[in-house]
Amino acid sequence: MQSVYSVLLVSWISCVQTLRIEQCNDEALGMENGLISDSQITSSSTFDKQSVGPQNARLHTEFASGAWCPKSQINSKSYEYLQINLNQTHLITAVETQGRYGNGTGREFASEYMIDYMRTGSQWIRYRNRTGHVMMSGNFDTTTPVIREFDPPIIAQKIRIIPTSKATRTVCLRAEVHGCKHQGVIYYSTVQDGSRQENLDFRDLIFEDSQMFTESGIKRGLGLLTDGYVAQSSPYEEDSKNASWIGWSKANTDGSINILFEFEEIHNFTDVVLATFGNRIDQIDVIFSQDGKAYPLYSTISSSERQTANHTSRRYDFRVPLHNRIGKKVRITIKFSTDWMFLTEVHFTSTTNKPSPVIKTATNPDSPAIQQFLVVCGIVFLTIFSCVAYCITLCIRRRQNNNEKKCEQILKKDLIITHMGNKPSCHVFPSNIKNTGKGPFEMANDIYYARSQKSTLLSVSSKSTSSYRNLPPTWSDFNFPPPPEMNEEQVYSQHVSTESSSKSGSFKSNKGVTEVKKYPSSSLMLGHAIGEGKFTLIRECVVFGGSKVAHKSIKDVDCPHGRRALNDEIAMLMKCGKHPNIAELLAVDEHCNLILEFVELGSINLFLQASPSPFEVDFLILICKDICSAMTYLEQIGVVHGHLTPNNVLLGSDLHAKICSPRGPSHHAQLRYSAPECIVHNEFTHKSDIWSCAATIWEMSYQCQTRPYESLTNEQIVDNACALLEGKSDTELLEFPPIFNKSCMILLEQCFASNRQDRPVFEKLWKSF
Ligand SMILES: *[C@@H]1O[C@H](CO)[C@@H](O)[C@H](O)[C@H]1NC(C)=O
Ligand SMILES: *[C@@H]1O[C@H](CO)[C@@H](O)[C@H](O)[C@H]1NC(C)=O
Ligand SMILES: *[C@@H]1O[C@H](CO)[C@@H](O)[C@H](O)[C@H]1NC(C)=O
Ligand SMILES: *[C@@H]1O[C@H](CO)[C@@H](O)[C@H](O)[C@H]1NC(C)=O
Ligand SMILES: *[C@@H]1O[C@H](CO)[C@@H](O)[C@H](O)[C@H]1NC(C)=O
Ligand SMILES: *[C@@H]1O[C@H](CO)[C@@H](O)[C@H](O)[C@H]1NC(C)=O
Repeated sequence: MQSVYSVLLVSWISCVQTLRIEQCNDEALGMENGLISDSQITSSSTFDKQSVGPQNARLHTEFASGAWCPKSQINSKSYEYLQINLNQTHLITAVETQGRYGNGTGREFASEYMIDYMRTGSQWIRYRNRTGHVMMSGNFDTTTPVIREFDPPIIAQKIRIIPTSKATRTVCLRAEVHGCKHQGVIYYSTVQDGSRQENLDFRDLIFEDSQMFTESGIKRGLGLLTDGYVAQSSPYEEDSKNASWIGWSKANTDGSINILFEFEEIHNFTDVVLATFGNRIDQIDVIFSQDGKAYPLYSTISSSERQTANHTSRRYDFRVPLHNRIGKKVRITIKFSTDWMFLTEVHFTSTTNKPSPVIKTATNPDSPAIQQFLVVCGIVFLTIFSCVAYCITLCIRRRQNNNEKKCEQILKKDLIITHMGNKPSCHVFPSNIKNTGKGPFEMANDIYYARSQKSTLLSVSSKSTSSYRNLPPTWSDFNFPPPPEMNEEQVYSQHVSTESSSKSGSFKSNKGVTEVKKYPSSSLMLGHAIGEGKFTLIRECVVFGGSKVAHKSIKDVDCPHGRRALNDEIAMLMKCGKHPNIAELLAVDEHCNLILEFVELGSINLFLQASPSPFEVDFLILICKDICSAMTYLEQIGVVHGHLTPNNVLLGSDLHAKICSPRGPSHHAQLRYSAPECIVHNEFTHKSDIWSCAATIWEMSYQCQTRPYESLTNEQIVDNACALLEGKSDTELLEFPPIFNKSCMILLEQCFASNRQDRPVFEKLWKSF
């Protein structure tokens, strides 16, 4: 370990506004002057390609009939868009729109619109401004251009302008986008969310709803740290409440926060400046990764602050020189010993080796047939829908005053599944949206997706409410898995309430059902976070007068999905009872949070990844035996685990493994670890569990350095699952390294049989190790 320790290098810059935010001269990006070529401008549909196709949507120009007009009229349910592909990542600061003038013949304009955008690796993200608004006000006549600035700015490669209207009307528009090229951070993620304090909310309030997660399930996106706005006022001042500071309390983070920054390409870094408030940073460690996976320790730069700096009540910048380190991902660990740590912006100074590409000369925007053809291709491409699963999980904000009834009331079923064509897939619609009587546009602050005119292929379940719309899913929207189908209320009343005996007949096997203890939360002392799921947070916890346990709660108490996931897990764990290789449910508290056995060394994947040398095969086999022993037991008592992955295998200090988080078939199965029938038909059984088990063993046998099907994208995995089920020949299966004995290898390979009947039972696999 040759970590470089660059000592005590801190510059405290006392004057305000010293942070060099991206120099962006907000220039027009080329709709009007033709730098953006016709092939880069597409649309969801057009009334007539020649006269009002997207190529005519250039601001201040009068080509053909003078604007882009979608095929159908616009109403509150439509999803018609003009799409501009900028080819490279840009910082987009504003959009300017104009109606259709057409030498005096036009009458159409867009009075309101929304923005969707996309950048490398992301799906379409609905834009929300700093105050959470989705709707942008547009034009009021056919000629006057109206410019709307984005605060925060958008970092994207592609942008869609989506005209909307409360009343049904014809809409046409011309547009320009403003901004500049962006070479900075394209995603960041923090393990620890910011904290709340009384009425102050120090979480990352403008963090994008990107639906993107790191491999460990942490949200990726952009937010307060990269929005270009450096707050000058104190985080506690009333007027700074408009989303400008992220604050972490020592109590919630144990005085250590981790932020991962991702760039599009490899950068050569000069320095990083953290704009903070009033606190003393004990130490900052910066570590770099060139391939996005390995973070060589020798690349570490550590820096700490001089004791004497006097800035307890002001904003100041903390600069860390980065000595021309090279990397594509940068992880920063900040250690602090004060009660709070605040950040408003993090800014890297860096260069890329690639010279910035020369902008092409303007093309003649008069559109020949070929360019129109390209436009049509684009539209056709965008409207492909087949075998797609698409789930919108929505956290519906609700407050219940009655605390006791809370768990129960949150459990209202709010999701349904619909199928498209003959290929099963999943759509989710909230079905119990509270009608506030304000009309559909009041939904604008929530994330929703409009439905294209071409959605006649969708057989939407009659239960879906009209105020929610579904967009024909694209592959990039793909989100696995489908939502719960079982009746959670039943599960809940059986297992969480104390009178579990009355209804317990409806489960096939009740062998393992145990009563669960209740601990008042006042008897628990929560420590720092030790793990995190999509909805859940796991913390160290000490029961007063007792031992260390793990406390699992949901991140957002108002989120019904998280609540349901937790309640299902309680139900499952109660069925499981005690087994030496299953992390035991010890109790619940009055908020239905889980109090679980504490398993000292944490997830096996992190353990294996962190172990410096290759592990012994014997050790791996021991782990496999432990997992199979637990899974054999689950198979015997009729419990389907549903999402076994290395992340759900914990390692005790005795180096024995315990599986955790059985949640049944209804929550967050992991695409890469799931059997084809789970992916395609949503069928979860012990036979799909053994597939996941084999995938888990496969990953562990590569020391968790690579994920299953690393080279396949999500959509390719779904294609592969379809192909496997159809018995096609051109399919991919995971191959095990030859480290197991022969009979074991054969059984492991059988676990990946397309026909689930051909897969072995767990007991057989267990005995073969
Ligand atoms: C408007 O005038 C221009 C220039 O005379 C012409 O090229 C264009 O076709 C006209 N547009 C309409 C809608 O008449
Ligand atoms: C963007 O990409 C398209 C398709 O590859 C190309 O036709 C166009 O010229 C590119 N535009 C710029 C500005 O590079
Ligand atoms: C956000 O959008 C709304 C509606 O378009 C607007 O009234 C508000 O000023 C915007 N807020 C910011 C910070 O731009
Ligand atoms: C809120 O945020 C904006 C940046 O968008 C900033 O200009 C403004 O000064 C902040 N404070 C108030 C009180 O609006
Ligand atoms: C810090 O600054 C404040 C006001 O600026 C001053 O009153 C105080 O004496 C300073 N403390 C030290 C240790 O310099
Ligand atoms: C990074 O940039 C510096 C200064 O331009 C240069 O001297 C150094 O060679 C670069 N490092 C790499 C690995 O390109």
